[in-house]
Amino acid sequence: MMPSAKLMSMRRGEGWTMKYVGLLLAMPPAMLAMVFATTSFAAGADTEAISKHDLQAKTQFCQDCHGPSGQGTPGGYLPIPRIAGQTPEYIERQLLAFAESMRDKNSSVGMTATHSVSPAMRSLLAAHFSSLNPDPIADGPRDLVATGKTIYEEGVPEANVPACSGCHGPEARGKGAIPRLAGQVDSYTERELAGWSKLRGQNPLKVGEAAAMKHVAHNLSSSQIAALAAYLGYLKR
Ligand code: HEC
Ligand code: HEC
Repeated sequence: MMPSAKLMSMRRGEGWTMKYVGLLLAMPPAMLAMVFATTSFAAGADTEAISKHDLQAKTQFCQDCHGPSGQGTPGGYLPIPRIAGQTPEYIERQLLAFAESMRDKNSSVGMTATHSVSPAMRSLLAAHFSSLNPDPIADGPRDLVATGKTIYEEGVPEANVPACSGCHGPEARGKGAIPRLAGQVDSYTERELAGWSKLRGQNPLKVGEAAAMKHVAHNLSSSQIAALAAYLGYLKR
């Protein structure tokens, strides 16, 4: 097993590459618990209490997985979502959802610890990532895009699926607590929609916004999900 000092220096230095992240995501739970135990999370009540240096270090930590401009990372053990251009409210809410074990709490890769930051750091990170807008990775199957667009705009009436545009907006830009879907990593969108109840709103006392999507996701077939994910993955803002 790698000593934690080495892990930390790798994370700070140039050796902390996506290859390493891939390794991290493939590690067994016990090892990961150790890795994440070495990460310290800044605690501050207001955003001014956070130094520029601490913010930069934390931003770098997020970018190590989410990509240098928050564009997301497909492939690997888990697809890592795009957070660039996401609404700040949604980013903050999801960080809190991870911290409260409402998302992916059974994941073996320590998502709760990774995403637990102070409320002040949460709002600074949300402001930073929401301000970025790199081009989408757009690696889904192009031949599904037209079908995905139709489902996005019209829903699937016979399966009781409402139009996605009704909530996420005509160009999938989202608003407030409703996420932007435009430009999202194809494999991430597929994974979330196919596994909604396993992945989201896991705290029964605090299901919150996740409940709004539950029946939508359940009523979609896997080919409809694939088409939606492909369409959304190509959408630019
Ligand atoms: C070890 C890799 C890793 C690191 C480091 C990491 N994340 Fe994540 N993040 C993920 C993965 C994987 C998911 C998707 C998990 C899932 O599907 O439940 C995710 C999900 C998210 C989401 C939810 C996105 C959505 O569309 O619902 C947000 C927001 C987020 N991360 C922000 C951050 C921020 C901010 C940081 C830095 C504090 C960070 N992440 C650090 C891997 C990472
Ligand atoms: C009634 C409003 C509503 C409708 C209709 C709706 N959504 Fe959502 N959707 C939401 C809300 C609210 C969330 C945020 C859930 C959360 O906070 O956990 C969400 C989340 C999502 C997510 C997760 C995004 C992420 O970054 O993790 C995906 C993917 C998604 N919706 C796709 C769709 C698709 C595709 C459709 C149409 C088939 C659709 N939604 C229809 C309200 C809606």
